[in-house]
Amino acid sequence: PTSIRLPELALVALVGASSAGKSTFAARHFLPTEVLSSDFFRALVSEDENSLDATGDAFDSLFYVAGKRLARGRLTLIDATSVRPDDRRRLVDLARQYDVLPVAVVLDLPRPVLEARHAARDDRDFRPEVIGRQMGELRRTLRGMQKEGFRHVWVLRSQEEVDGAQVTRVP
Ligand code: CTP
Ligand code: MG
Repeated sequence: PTSIRLPELALVALVGASSAGKSTFAARHFLPTEVLSSDFFRALVSEDENSLDATGDAFDSLFYVAGKRLARGRLTLIDATSVRPDDRRRLVDLARQYDVLPVAVVLDLPRPVLEARHAARDDRDFRPEVIGRQMGELRRTLRGMQKEGFRHVWVLRSQEEVDGAQVTRVP
C-alpha cells in the first residue's frame, strides 16, 4: 500500500479530475478545517458551488485563508482539480511564501470510473467530456510535477490504491 507521509506542516495539493474522489479522500484523512475546497469557496462567495464566474473570487478567498493558516503553522489541503501546471504553480508559490513544504497527492483513476461516478451525481451538471479534458491535462503534465516544486508526489491509480493508502504525519 502507498504510504503517504506528510510533513506536519505542509501545503497538500490534492490533484485530480472531477469525480476522482478528492473530497471523499479529504474527508477521510483530514480535519474538515484543514480542507479548503474550491467548491466551498465558490459557494461562499456566490451561493453556487458550480458557478464558474465565481472562480476568481473563490480562489482569491481560498488563497487568503490558506495563507493565514500556513502563517499560523496549520497543515492545509487544497481540494481543487489542480490538473494544470499553472494552477499548481500558484500552490507551490503559496507554500514557498510561507516557508512550508508543498506536497501533492494525485488521484489518477481510470476514466470509466470517473464517468460512471459523474453520471450518478446530481451535484455536477457539466458534460462528461469535461472530465476527459481534465484527465488529459493531468496525464500530459503529471511527469513534470516534481520539477514544479512539490517535495513529494504520491500518485494513486485505482480505487484499491486509494482505499489502501495510509496517511501519516511526520515531524
Ligand atoms: N465516490 C464513490 N466511491 C468512492 C469515492 C467517491 O462512489 N470511493 C463518489 C462520491 O460519492 C461522489 C463521486 O464519486 O458522488 C465523486 O467523489 P468526490 O469525492 O466528490 O470527487 P471530487 O474529486 O471531489 O469531485 P469534484 O472535483 O467534482 O468535487
Ligand atoms: Mg470535490
